[in-house]
Amino acid sequence: MSTNVRSSRSSQIVAWAVASLFLLGFFFSPIGAWTGPILGVWFVGTQKPRRGFLWMLAFSFIPSLVFNWRKFPLAGPAPALEYLGWTLLIAVLGVLPFTFHRLVSPRLPGFLFTLPFPLATVAIPSLVLALHLGAVPQAGVQPFIAAWFAAVVVWLWNHESRATTIVFAAGFILAAGFEFFRHFSGSRLPEILPIGATFVWICLAGALVLSIWALLNPGKRQTWANRPETVAQLRSPFTGNPLHVASEKAGREALLSTSGERFPIRNGIPTFLKPEDLTGDNGKYNHLYETIGGFYDDTQRVACAFKGLDRDEYFLVYMRMLEAKPGDSVLETSVGTGLSFKYLPRGVKLSGLDLSAEMLANCQANLRRWEMDADLYLGNAESLPFADSSFDVVFHVGGISFFNDQAKAIREMIRVAKPGSLLLISDETEEYAKATYEKIPITSSYYKNRQTTVKIPIDLVPPEMQEIHLEMIKGGQFYAITFRKPAAGK
Ligand SMILES: C[S@@+](CC[C@H](N)C(=O)[O-])C[C@H]1O[C@@H](n2cnc3c(N)ncnc32)[C@H](O)[C@@H]1O
Repeated sequence: MSTNVRSSRSSQIVAWAVASLFLLGFFFSPIGAWTGPILGVWFVGTQKPRRGFLWMLAFSFIPSLVFNWRKFPLAGPAPALEYLGWTLLIAVLGVLPFTFHRLVSPRLPGFLFTLPFPLATVAIPSLVLALHLGAVPQAGVQPFIAAWFAAVVVWLWNHESRATTIVFAAGFILAAGFEFFRHFSGSRLPEILPIGATFVWICLAGALVLSIWALLNPGKRQTWANRPETVAQLRSPFTGNPLHVASEKAGREALLSTSGERFPIRNGIPTFLKPEDLTGDNGKYNHLYETIGGFYDDTQRVACAFKGLDRDEYFLVYMRMLEAKPGDSVLETSVGTGLSFKYLPRGVKLSGLDLSAEMLANCQANLRRWEMDADLYLGNAESLPFADSSFDVVFHVGGISFFNDQAKAIREMIRVAKPGSLLLISDETEEYAKATYEKIPITSSYYKNRQTTVKIPIDLVPPEMQEIHLEMIKGGQFYAITFRKPAAGK
């Protein structure tokens, strides 16, 4: 059987129009003044703070170094050094508001997320200039509005709000009017709407208040000692021994087995990886997911938008095959950033395991945004850390084609599923891997000249399983295998 997903021409046109505007922003500064901050705020949100800061600094410092040297009056005793120093200082001042946003915003509730970036865009450079000039300079309203607009668009985008396009379009119509007025009135808007030093002080005070708020709200994290029922289901993936929670120094926790194995819990996630789990194809593709973890969801969304595909429908094609109902315990192996969780009924108890810490960190961020809860584990799907027959529903989407040992991963899924339950395994076909991953710049180096080609693992499903069914989906680009574990005693 084969199932397809419809595509919509109008959403495809909107996606390409928005992408063209972002592209134009690289060449026309009046557009770039509005699209640049959006890209920056989005980008730092996909990165760890230090890595985001360094990348942003490189993006801003290197082009200004190359393009501005003719404009710089080379007059000092060591002009090249002076030029380098000023360019670096200006780049750092430009990047700091993004880093401030990255550190503070994720800890603020709701729409407050949008405020740190515009406040810091006015406060940080003004403060540094004040130190240099001895007085707080006048600040214009345009940088504040452009920065706020950027933070609002990214907030809506992160919340997958359908209003994103409307706000983006309205913002750009206003920005175009703004530029038009500026051009024909012969003056610059910051001078038309001067806000003055008081505005700088207000922004500075606002940024300070939000920083203190963020510091006092590090985010709630459930301890594992409070989850005795979940811990009772855990087993060492290496010896099969039961585990218990131990409290360690500085409020940290770890899982200990009766035979003395220790599995640390980092950022709320029990870690079951051994160095040998990251060898072969598992190691190769883990490197890819550690690199793209922050972009993974957005790349999928943008790819769907360019093709005009409805993303919900895209997921539901296979998620509908599951038999999950409220109250069930559900495990996804290779959970990634948790995208499938949104398509399960509310009231199920979610668990997800993955080989990539970066994908799981983004899964945690998604769960916070969606106000959902799940037990997450860092581990190898080929040796699951759970007791036999622990879950009502077990499924896997994406990843298995490049596991070191697919047969073992399928046996493990069956072992931890309750008798009588329906299991699902879905992934892309070789046709899709060739047409997509071999062509995309970041993934192509991993997928070209592979030794492993994708084989639909239907023959690896043990013959004693019942109702084995293969469905080709999305025009043969993906497949879904479902089968039932025999009920006890059968
Ligand atoms: C294509 S993503 C799919 C993520 C998610 N299931 C989804 O549908 O969006 C593949 C995931 O498989 C994970 N993965 C790869 N090999 C694994 C292994 N041996 N054990 C557990 N997870 C693995 C990767 O880290 C990555 O998060």
